[in-house]
Amino acid sequence: MRIGVLTGGGDCPGLNAVIRAATRRGLLEGWEIWGVVEGWRGLMGEGWFEPLRLESVSGILRRGGTVLRTSRDNPFKIPNGADEVLANIKKNKLDALVAIGGEGTMMLAKKFFDMGIPLVGVPKTIDNDIWGTDLTFGFDTAVNTAMEVIDKLHSTAESHNRVLVVEVMGHYTGWIAWAAGLASGADLIIIPEHPTGVKEICQVIEARFARGKYFSIVVVAEGAKISLEKDKPGDYIWQPGTDAAGHPRLGGIGEVLARKIEELTEFEARPVTLGYIQRGGSPSAFDRILASRFGVFAVEMIKGRKFGYMAALKGTEIVAVPLEEAAKQLKTVPEEYYKTAEVFFG
Ligand code: F6P
Repeated sequence: MRIGVLTGGGDCPGLNAVIRAATRRGLLEGWEIWGVVEGWRGLMGEGWFEPLRLESVSGILRRGGTVLRTSRDNPFKIPNGADEVLANIKKNKLDALVAIGGEGTMMLAKKFFDMGIPLVGVPKTIDNDIWGTDLTFGFDTAVNTAMEVIDKLHSTAESHNRVLVVEVMGHYTGWIAWAAGLASGADLIIIPEHPTGVKEICQVIEARFARGKYFSIVVVAEGAKISLEKDKPGDYIWQPGTDAAGHPRLGGIGEVLARKIEELTEFEARPVTLGYIQRGGSPSAFDRILASRFGVFAVEMIKGRKFGYMAALKGTEIVAVPLEEAAKQLKTVPEEYYKTAEVFFG
């Protein structure tokens, strides 16, 4: 067999661990493994492939990012893109494909599977928002990075009687904010799943001041919905812009919120945007193990001709879930999780 491995969408810690695991497991079968360079882009045009051998995956387990590089290219939005993908798979005699990516990549994988491509998916993302798997690798590392930064911010916030508004990633879900906020003892966590008003946020900070706590750490998810009046959803203090391709571009709410807090209270508020720091660096032990298990399992799905499925974590087991299920909706933070975090607000 000749199998292709591609990484699509934003990078995250653990991608190299999957590439290494899938390569080593495939080589054990005596298969040829080909890395597709820069995600779906590498399957368009002339096609761009690199052979994956034992020596090419040596030493990459601990490295962040992806040695195959990645892109957000969507072949269905590029003239002839999808046809070029099909043609390249045929021309290069790929018998199967391992598509490692987030929700967007799983959706594309499902489309190509429906068009007859034998493939399997592996879910990655720091956002942890993929339906059908309890966790995605990359999330644990991102949460630990955010927690370490918030731990450091505590001492400076306290010394200066400041409100620090820490904006974290997460796209349209609040998993990173929820987990990093809970782990670092944030005084308030604002997530998209639980819209709030700016006055309610200020009340929490004021109540802390009243009990002698002159600083606050507010963790806000980049996709949070904060309105001027709590009961008037839609009247948001910040809305995402769009990038060159017309996709919503998140990032910026922390700065607006800090300004609003200064306007409405007597406290000095400063924004801290964690940004790409959360996506970078070496994967945690948890992510290395999950990613390695996913990579091995993906090749075993191919061996068992279980195409159209995604490797997923259910409890402590790795199982196969239909790509259809993974692509159907976002996995959001359940209300009861938010309620647990709420116990520590204020
Ligand atoms: O999906 C991962 C993620 O880091 C999101 O948390 C964030 O909104 C987005 O990617 C940023 O994407 P880009 O790399 O296009 O700026």
